[in-house]
Amino acid sequence: MKARVAVHRDFTIGEIDPRLYSAFIEHMGRAIYGGIYEPDHPQADDQGFRKDVMALVRDLQVPAIRYPGGNFVSAYNWEDGIGPKEDRPVRLDLAWRSKETNQVGINEFAHWADQAGIEMMLAVNLGSRGLEDARNFLEYVNHPEGSAWSDLRRSHGVESPYDVKMWCLGNEMDGPWQIGHKVATEYGRLANETAKAFKGFDKSIEAVVCGSSNDQMPTYPEWEREVLEECYENVDYISLHKYFGNNSKNTLNYFAKIEETGRYIQAIGGVIDFVKAKKRAKNDVYICFDEWNVWYHEREEDSKRISQWDWPEAPHLLEESYNFEDALFIGGLLNEFIRRSDRVRIACIAQLVNVIAPIRAEPGGPAWRQTIYYPYQMASLYGRGTALNIAVDAPTYDCAVAHDVSYLDVAGVHDAETGTVTLFILNRHTEETADLDVGLHGFAGAKLVEHHVMEGHDLTTTNGPDTPDRVAPVPGQGVGVEDGALKGRLAPLSYHVVRLA
Ligand code: AHR
Repeated sequence: MKARVAVHRDFTIGEIDPRLYSAFIEHMGRAIYGGIYEPDHPQADDQGFRKDVMALVRDLQVPAIRYPGGNFVSAYNWEDGIGPKEDRPVRLDLAWRSKETNQVGINEFAHWADQAGIEMMLAVNLGSRGLEDARNFLEYVNHPEGSAWSDLRRSHGVESPYDVKMWCLGNEMDGPWQIGHKVATEYGRLANETAKAFKGFDKSIEAVVCGSSNDQMPTYPEWEREVLEECYENVDYISLHKYFGNNSKNTLNYFAKIEETGRYIQAIGGVIDFVKAKKRAKNDVYICFDEWNVWYHEREEDSKRISQWDWPEAPHLLEESYNFEDALFIGGLLNEFIRRSDRVRIACIAQLVNVIAPIRAEPGGPAWRQTIYYPYQMASLYGRGTALNIAVDAPTYDCAVAHDVSYLDVAGVHDAETGTVTLFILNRHTEETADLDVGLHGFAGAKLVEHHVMEGHDLTTTNGPDTPDRVAPVPGQGVGVEDGALKGRLAPLSYHVVRLA
């Protein structure tokens, strides 16, 4: 198929917030215990954190991380995780029917995040608890000294406050499964009062209010309208979540969930604009897409296991094995986030280690990269700068979730500092090679610097502890710049990162 693309230096979407490439980690399964933290592991540091996992995390250059949940946060007592480890209580985690030992709490996690060079984004419990405990947590975390909670932190050996700027006001409060689930107006009021209290403490705090758990919720998108009508002026972001899968084994339909996500973002953008106009508000609210990933391979089996098990500690849970098809999908989804970066300022891959994660860690054994690690890494490393408004003229298809879906999915980023243009290209055609012709306008003399490609695998191919890089990018061939245009042939079912300078 012929695929014509136009890139112009001056036709832009806007500056990408680097936090578009953030992540999420929850106290559940083996994400924390047996994931980032395994004191008995040969690679553990003096605090019990795995150095091999840390190295893989660092290579992703994750800008920010949402913690500690997730559904977990809605019944979490943050005070259980502070003070001497031997005095911390073991609690029942009602969200995942597991035991929480509290050996990792805010101070240990902050240490880990600092070592990883990642900014923390903290979620407060607005399910089983409320404003009072949230403001105590804020004081413990952010106040320098001279108050009960800040002095308690200092007595725990942490002299300087963490100065956390991003605060999530609960988690998925629209979900009937959520502990302390609320109706929209009830939650909107609580979120408003919590945001006001937080901004009263420090006006530079950024508050993230819960939007829908996904775009199939019966309350979507009415939920967003009702919540924002209660709290618009006091919040900075509304969060969206969405998980993906290919249960029907229809690759093109799966890949069109990228467009479906675009519609979700666009619809919530409309709700934000509606409420802003209705309230005659001056402030802007952006989208924080703080949970996204593929989650379907183990989902049904896991729900059965959870309902039957007897409160295990750090069980194997949501340990999805990602395949080549998932990697291609994630590449395209990240392209959608880049194209929607005028609305989506923050997005978090959910999650980071073991639980629906790009990184896996074997108990006592190696840590390794899943297939989806790579498109996420490429976007994080090379997707910073100005998002370009790219025109694509390629054949399209119709399927159940979307119509008129281009077989060629393209996003582009111009980094003015380094003078580099990066194109992220997914050929989602299952059979046809794309005959690519990209007009490069305003980038006179640009030359090909790098070309990474993921292609040529059976869609079901996965990586594993013994074959960690079976599905990984390799140097690409057959693409080059001629007469101000990037030309080449892209194999069916292939993902490319092409860098020009
Ligand atoms: O990431 C796993 C779970 O998915 C989170 O706990 C919850 O917020 C979402 O439903």
